[in-house]
Order: sequence, then structure tokens, then C-alpha cells
Amino acid sequence: MFVTFEGLDGSGKSTQARLLAEALAAEGRDVVATREPGGTEVGELIRELLLGPRNVAPWAEAALFAAARGQLVEEVIAPALARGADVVCDRYIDSSLAYQGIARGLGVDRVLELNVNAISGILPDRTYLLVVDAEEAARRRGDPGDRIEREEDGFRQRVAEAYQELAAAFPQRIVTIDGTRPAGEIGREVLDELRQHS
Ligand code: ADP
Ligand code: TYD
Repeated sequence: MFVTFEGLDGSGKSTQARLLAEALAAEGRDVVATREPGGTEVGELIRELLLGPRNVAPWAEAALFAAARGQLVEEVIAPALARGADVVCDRYIDSSLAYQGIARGLGVDRVLELNVNAISGILPDRTYLLVVDAEEAARRRGDPGDRIEREEDGFRQRVAEAYQELAAAFPQRIVTIDGTRPAGEIGREVLDELRQHS
């Protein structure tokens, strides 16, 4: 199984990715947990470029996220899936569709096309979208965040709406989860949903 978590920064993605990876590993499954945009040496370098102080043009930003993702697929995700491991990833293609495709206005189809090539067509089996409102996400995160998170408030709101649009467009794959409940409760819901699906 290839499972991804999506949502605003502060929505609880890394917490849930960790809980799911731990739960699957406790069942004796081979689990690879990774995150975007990093997880590889090249990816971490691209992440520094992307989240640093420099101005990055919208298509350059989309291409760099796709490049980091392509590297992660080639080095980590594809080999893990090929040997039969489960892969749990904190952010994946839907982040680019929401942030670059919708919130930055580049177009979902065009950003999808760019990414599908970069990731050799490897899409998640299941994607959990953690929904908390923009204020709660910012409160949880605490610090002002990276270059993309420091965008004006309207941007985060657009990202939140973008994720709802994606959930409606891909209902077979994207499962919307109320992210405001305690982390353990959400973790159990995710595990139950995944069991029903697999
Ligand atoms: P993300 O990876 O989406 O940025 P994190 O998992 O790092 O989010 O969580 C952001 C902050 O919110 C952390 O301090 C974390 O402990 C806290 N947190 C995570 N899940 C919950 C939850 N369900 N309820 C309240 N706080 C949470
Ligand atoms: P992330 O590494 O998830 O942040 P953190 O570890 O602080 O939770 O993501 C960094 C930022 O990059 C975040 O603001 C979302 C943004 N992002 C995109 O705009 N497009 C993408 O494809 C990805 C993966 C992230």
C-alpha cells in the first residue's frame, strides 16, 4: 500500500504519518516512512532552494517540487513498493495540485501532467486529507513558518479550499478526515479506514 497524508501545515500530517507507520510496523509489516519535499539528498537540497528566502517563480516552484518528488520516487518509493513494503508519505502530488495548481493558479491539469511524468505514474492507493481551519493550523504550528507558509493569509485559505476541491475531484482515493480531534482518535480512524479499503 502507498498511503499519503495531506493538509495545511499544522494540520497534523507528520503526527498521523508517524502513528500509521508505527501501527503498521507493530503488525510486523515492512514500512517505509518518508516526507516531501525531502527524503533524499537531492530532495533536501531542492527543499533548501524552495523554502529559503529567494523569490521562486511559480512554474519554477512547481518544477522544483516535481523534481524533488521524482527523486524520492526513484530512490525510495518505487524500490520500497517493488519489494512489497508499505510506503507512508507526508505530502505528495496533491500538495502540488493544491498549492501550485489551484492556490497559485497554474492549473490542476497542467501541474498534474508535469508531475505524472516525474513520478513515473506512481499514485497513492489512499490519501488522507486532514482538515483543520487555517487559523487552527497556524496556531498549532506556532512559528511564522517557511517562505510558502508566510504568504498572506488569503493564500492559506485558498489552499484549504483547494484541498476540498481535490477531495471532490478524486473521491475514490482521497479520504477527508476531521483533523480537530485528538491525534490518537484520528490515528484509529485512519487505520480502520485503511483496513476496510485493503
Ligand atoms: P504537520 O505535519 O501537518 O505540519 P504536525 O503533525 O507537525 O503537523 O503537528 C503540528 C502541531 O500540532 C504539533 O505541535 C503537534 O503536536 C500538534 N498536533 C498534531 N495533531 C494534533 C491533534 N490532532 N490535535 C491537536 N494538536 C495536534
Ligand atoms: P512541508 O515540508 O510539509 O512543511 P513542514 O515540514 O514545515 O510541515 O512543506 C513545506 C512547504 O511547501 C509547505 O508550505 C507546503 C509547500 N509545498 C508546496 O507548495 N507544494 C508541494 O508540492 C509540497 C510537497 C509542499
